[in-house]
Amino acid sequence: MEYYERTVLRTHLSNKNIDHDLRRLISNLSKSAQYIAFEIKKSLRGDTENQNTYGEIQLKLDVLADTIIKKRLSLETSFGVKDFASEEQENIINIHPDKEEMSKKYSIAVDPLDGSSLIKSNLTIGTIFGIYSGSIISGKPGRDNLVAAMYVMYGPETTLVYSAGKGVHEFIFDPAGNWTLKSENIIIPEKGKLFAPGGLRKDWTDEHKKFINDLEEQGYKIRYSGAFVSDFNAMLKNGGIFTYPALINKPQGKLRLLMELQPLAFIVEQAGGMATNGLENILDIIPKKLDQRSPIYIGSKHEVQLAKKYINGE
Ligand code: F6P
Ligand code: MN
Repeated sequence: MEYYERTVLRTHLSNKNIDHDLRRLISNLSKSAQYIAFEIKKSLRGDTENQNTYGEIQLKLDVLADTIIKKRLSLETSFGVKDFASEEQENIINIHPDKEEMSKKYSIAVDPLDGSSLIKSNLTIGTIFGIYSGSIISGKPGRDNLVAAMYVMYGPETTLVYSAGKGVHEFIFDPAGNWTLKSENIIIPEKGKLFAPGGLRKDWTDEHKKFINDLEEQGYKIRYSGAFVSDFNAMLKNGGIFTYPALINKPQGKLRLLMELQPLAFIVEQAGGMATNGLENILDIIPKKLDQRSPIYIGSKHEVQLAKKYINGE
């Protein structure tokens, strides 16, 4: 099928009857991702002669990605964003401070450049977006506050995966400059053959060590790149489990609940998989602070359920 015959993201969102403001918000964020992809390529080519459009000085790519997302949201004149939270910011930001009259239905939490330390080795990195219905810290569990999640991967191709609660769908950024549909209603295999073990073995708990030993004995193959978004995507496509567990000196692990874990947990559940911290479902956790972290076991149902058994000492 020719690219021009394929469904583009905007049409897909409208066919799925996604709320009008949410559609515009997703489109706005997807556009930011296009600019981020462009800046990453420019930086990899060493093309730093022309300063990027967003600052007098050359910004680090993760700060630049954050700036692009914020600027594009602030240029939006038809709807407002309630809270904006980012890994690059300590506090929640008001994007439209002097436009109280704009409808402010949604909040956004973003990891602007997940895995950014991999840029220099030309490995795949990404952006993660969580779209929340109320305030970001709402007193509600993620399950009752997240309305959509999306991630973009800057790899051999730039791809976008989103869910607005009506399945998980993947788009590819085509040569004509459109997000065109690649796969619809993605379902994660019930069981896989891959595992991605975060953290150092010497820092793992005994329960976690036993779980990983079990996978190794069963012949699971390791796939760990150092970018959560890419390793998660590998599990979504092939089946298996990504883990960043509680560590002896860091019982909450490393990854952030609002910007990384709940958005991808939303997507994995929509795809028929699971995400837990070992004891509790990731989407059942009530976020209390912006930089809250949690251990994570995410992927196919079979492996996540097995992890739960080990972590619970069963
Ligand atoms: O965002 C944090 C992150 O870079 C993830 O993308 C990745 O999964 C993890 O940290 C890698 O951590 P480590 O270097 O400890 O393996
Ligand atoms: Mn990250």
